[in-house]
Amino acid sequence: MNKIALITGGTRGIGASISVKLKKSGYKVIANYSSNDEAAKNFSEEHNIDVMKWDVSNFSECEKCITSIYENNASIDILVNNAGITKDAPLHKMSLENWSKVIDVNLNSVFNMTSLIINKMRENKFGRIIHISSVNGQKGQFGQTNYAATKSGLIGFSKSLALESAIKGITSNVICPGYINTEMVAAIREDILESIVDTIPNKRLGNVDEIAEMVDYLASEKASYINGATISINGGLWMD
Ligand code: CAA
Repeated sequence: MNKIALITGGTRGIGASISVKLKKSGYKVIANYSSNDEAAKNFSEEHNIDVMKWDVSNFSECEKCITSIYENNASIDILVNNAGITKDAPLHKMSLENWSKVIDVNLNSVFNMTSLIINKMRENKFGRIIHISSVNGQKGQFGQTNYAATKSGLIGFSKSLALESAIKGITSNVICPGYINTEMVAAIREDILESIVDTIPNKRLGNVDEIAEMVDYLASEKASYINGATISINGGLWMD
């Protein structure tokens, strides 16, 4: 029977590429999304991947939807915590609303999703949990105190979970993408983005499939000894 992979924010950007890659590798993929119905519908039709709409920052919505997934599937074997947003501003201009929203969507969602899935993975003695963090969680970035705090937070979360779960056949790892060619990065002011690309040793943005390839490997049986790792994919922008 195919293993089941659940990808949050799995219909656009890096998440969409992960969903497609895992499907090609033979997983049954469920791609969560929160708002863009049209993109999700097109994605689902084009790739024949099931999509499910809910807000991962809302614990009771996560509970309801994960319960319904378990009603139709014996297990969730792979969880990719990918959903994330930016609300960039320097701290002296940041509203409480934009602080809280980013913490809720990027970090509290990871508690919601993972805590609701971890017990079944422990029972099954198998699980792969992959968190999508960011180079800016490793190095910090002007205008991203909120985002960087969540992305650093994922690294501590993942390492702690790896310690708790290793004995149960579950791995927890983090990927830190650099600046990847997505709508999120395209939204950066052009001159600022140009100056950022100039600081990347490889002198280009990354591609979504360069992240998906690593997720696919971490999800596989071959990666069972990679646990608690933080893997940078950033064109040399930050070496950690
Ligand atoms: N370092 C030091 N000073 C900086 C700076 C930097 N990197 N960037 C801007 N400043 C300075 C400016 O020179 C300016 O100084 P003066 O007032 O003396 O001229 C001052 O800070 C204000 O700069 P802005 O006009 O840019 O401020 P703003 O409020 O209009 O914009 C911002 C702030 C929206 C955060 C903008 O700086 C920005 O977009 N920065 C890029 C943030 C970024 O990299 N986001 C990544 C999004 S994609 C993502 O997050 C995916 C991922 O994981 C990588």
